[in-house]
Amino acid sequence: MDYENKLVLAPMVRVGTLPFRLLSAEYGADITYGEEIIDHKFLKCERRVNDFLGTTDFVEKGTGDVVFRTCPEERNRIVFQMGTSDSVRALAAAELVSKDVAAIDINMGCPKSFSISGGMGAALLSKPELVHDILTTLRRNLDGAVTCKIRLLNSSQNTVEFARRIEMSGVSALAVHGRRIKDRPRDPAMWCEIADVVSALSIPVIANGDVFDYEHFERIKSVTGATSVMVARGALWNASIFHAEGKLPWEDIKREYVRKCILWDNDVKSTKQTLKEMIMHYSCLEFEEGKAVTKSKTIADLANFYGEDGYYQLVTKSRWR
Ligand code: FNR
Repeated sequence: MDYENKLVLAPMVRVGTLPFRLLSAEYGADITYGEEIIDHKFLKCERRVNDFLGTTDFVEKGTGDVVFRTCPEERNRIVFQMGTSDSVRALAAAELVSKDVAAIDINMGCPKSFSISGGMGAALLSKPELVHDILTTLRRNLDGAVTCKIRLLNSSQNTVEFARRIEMSGVSALAVHGRRIKDRPRDPAMWCEIADVVSALSIPVIANGDVFDYEHFERIKSVTGATSVMVARGALWNASIFHAEGKLPWEDIKREYVRKCILWDNDVKSTKQTLKEMIMHYSCLEFEEGKAVTKSKTIADLANFYGEDGYYQLVTKSRWR
């Protein structure tokens, strides 16, 4: 996979499922990350080809939940992001999915207590030996690209040192979120500290943080020197951020998202969560739309609220022919 000059959809829990990734790609995202999936959970899954949908599903044994769904259309741009704290487990989980995705990414930036207490996410930022072990194990045993995503460490010098060690493990690219562990999303991303990493490494660095409009892609590139840019909230709030001709109306994006969730039989929980995140940005969950989404129990309920009943009937009927 080529990581130069790319617009990248960031990994987002509950958001980065197949419909949202395809939506972002339709508007111009070149690389699309899936949501972080924890190795323990993925190891409980089995791979199943879903002929009805034309997808490959990773289904949790016992519950039957689809933990990860992908399709051939995105094979060359989908990055599977994993949460892990152990190289043997990480490799076993990666081997399950590696033939179906373009790259495997390790999350080293999540500051949530669930991740940190399990030794995953940002906890890895203080364990360079373990990081080296995980990344070299994946690199040696997998054919596809291996990457990771980090946050800034407590000084630019430490971030650069850590990034250099990551580069030595042979990864294809490194995504850098320009915030420290303690920073909140409202704190400004420090693009100048991403620039320090870009100038110290020779592998592609993907710059991430505070890109909310198409023009910001050029701005962050010129400040950091990175040629590829990753965007999370800007895409969540309007996936057409990747569209060079300007953003499309938010109402249209939301409807298209709902149609894709119908088409790909997306899980209702993550569909609702994504819609709620979109609504909260523009409006309030206490208004009619927010309440209707909150009380929806099925994709059919959501289709009904968004006036997509006809499309829902058409899609579900055609599946059983
Ligand atoms: C995230 N982020 C994130 N990061 C990651 O590595 N794995 C993940 O699964 C998630 N999940 C997630 C969910 C949601 C709803 C948001 C908003 C964010 C962090 C994200 O990828 C990104 O690094 C930050 O949001 C900073 O980028 P923006 O939002 O400033 O473009």
